[in-house]
Amino acid sequence: MKGIIKEETIEKIRNTCDLVDLVSRYLPLKKTGSNYTGLCPFHSEKTPSFTVSDTKQLFHCFGCGQGGDIFTFIMKIENLSFVEAVKFLGDLYGIPIEEGSKTDDKLEAEKKLIYEINREAARFYYYNLINSREPLNYLKQRGIGRKIIKEFGLGYAPNKWDSILNFLKGKGYKIEDIEKTGLIGRRKDNTGFYDKFRNRIIFPILDTRGRIIGFGGRVLDNTMPKYLNSQDTLVFNKGNNLYGLNLVKKYSDRKRIILVEGYMDVISLYNHGINYSVASLGTAFTKSQAKLLKRFGQDVYICYDSDNAGINATIRTINILRSEGIEPRIILLPQGKDPDDFIKEKGLEGFEGLIDSAMNHIDYRILINRKKYNLSDVEEKIKFTKKVSQIIRELKSPIEKDVYIDKISRDTGISKEAIQKEVLGKNIKANISSYKDKYINGKYRDNKNKIAPIKTVLESAHLTAEKTLVKLMTINREYYNIIKSRLYPKDFLNYECNTMVNIIYDAYERNQELDSIDSEYIIKNLETKNDIDSIIIDEIIGMNVDFLSETKII
Ligand code: UTP
Ligand code: MN
Repeated sequence: MKGIIKEETIEKIRNTCDLVDLVSRYLPLKKTGSNYTGLCPFHSEKTPSFTVSDTKQLFHCFGCGQGGDIFTFIMKIENLSFVEAVKFLGDLYGIPIEEGSKTDDKLEAEKKLIYEINREAARFYYYNLINSREPLNYLKQRGIGRKIIKEFGLGYAPNKWDSILNFLKGKGYKIEDIEKTGLIGRRKDNTGFYDKFRNRIIFPILDTRGRIIGFGGRVLDNTMPKYLNSQDTLVFNKGNNLYGLNLVKKYSDRKRIILVEGYMDVISLYNHGINYSVASLGTAFTKSQAKLLKRFGQDVYICYDSDNAGINATIRTINILRSEGIEPRIILLPQGKDPDDFIKEKGLEGFEGLIDSAMNHIDYRILINRKKYNLSDVEEKIKFTKKVSQIIRELKSPIEKDVYIDKISRDTGISKEAIQKEVLGKNIKANISSYKDKYINGKYRDNKNKIAPIKTVLESAHLTAEKTLVKLMTINREYYNIIKSRLYPKDFLNYECNTMVNIIYDAYERNQELDSIDSEYIIKNLETKNDIDSIIIDEIIGMNVDFLSETKII
């Protein structure tokens, strides 16, 4: 029907638009705890009672009681109808508004029927399970009792070729409709249909609206394949859904969410009191799953198996999450264990201990590389350091960069300066000159002394000390005399400082009249200009060491 906006469009807008960002366009918000607050735009107030929840994507005013989601917010603040609000947001976020038509109605009806048949099938499997001793025993032996079976709607597909087929036919569904659920397959010789799930424990997969979109099925023994999953259908897209998300939505406080590999991990964690884990559905983690996660947990943790496949999957998932702006933490499991094994053995407390000591993804990636290379071999050490420098380079904060550079320097015995250069690569000059430009040409130009320039790279106290000493010696001979009596040129470890000290010592020794040495003098006396990073000379020459004489250190 014309005029009715497609469900997909509304979902797309919901997934793209961030309520905190949206509200911030209208009023300033402040982060308070896990929420954001501001002065309510819908009634007049002096103390903020308007609250926006980032994770829930909902707002509420404790003063006037107004509340809702992105659409409600726009309807109220822009005084629009729902359809107008959707169009408004579509415009704002560049999402084309698709309106429904007759064919969409047909499609919606088709989908509705699949959900309905899936629900009937899940019921059938469930009643089968609670009446079958063998699968019940299997689950019991894995620690799963009636309560969990009910909560997850687990089931059992009998060991027959036509049980779900006959059940659904008996309910009056047409064979072509049953086929659309993926529960049955067409026989090769085209003589009819057969049940795809046979003699398997059934895991219904629900979306966040509680609709059954597909199924997973596990064998009761070691037969292969261990798990079978519904094929993608009109209502089921493996890459767009996560197992367990419906329960996270229902029960969790959404502070954190843990991504695990398997159905059984989600169930077992839940069984032990962790109601905030989800699993991807037998396929690699996708960007669209990352978007989903973002809406259901503030802190995202990855807890995959500790084998090689698990490590590779973890690295892949870290990259996908980060491309969506999520900085995940990684929970490390002992070798050979999955979350299910671990929590069964160590209980909730044990697992919460693991969560508390989860690593950030930088530490994790360094650790993985640390295991790959043998640091007592020179070539491998170089490879390791280069690889890790690439990882550190991704960090935005110079303080964090410095901390890691320091750590790697201690691990490898390679100087901090060398790693720093490797991390910054060719950007070092660009970075320093860009901060200089800002500093000199920016609005603080006339206010130079009051503004401390922000360095792109934090240097060690050691390097700062060397640079300060070099600077002092360029001021006058007295400093030179004091420093010379305590230090040899070789005591300056930084290459640039060391070169300069050699020139300065030499100059003072040869030229009695010399009172001040400037950058030009030093550069003139360099053997080859390429030998030295002239930026450091400029930095040293431009250094302010007044604080030293003020505090009478020298
Ligand atoms: P695992 O083999 O790690 O599953 O596969 P698990 O949950 O630990 O299984 P249990 O404990 O032996 O019962 C992780 C996930 O990979 C998918 C499933 O989604 C499974 O939960 N998988 C695995 C398949 O799709 N097919 C398979 O044959 C195996
Ligand atoms: Mn397992």
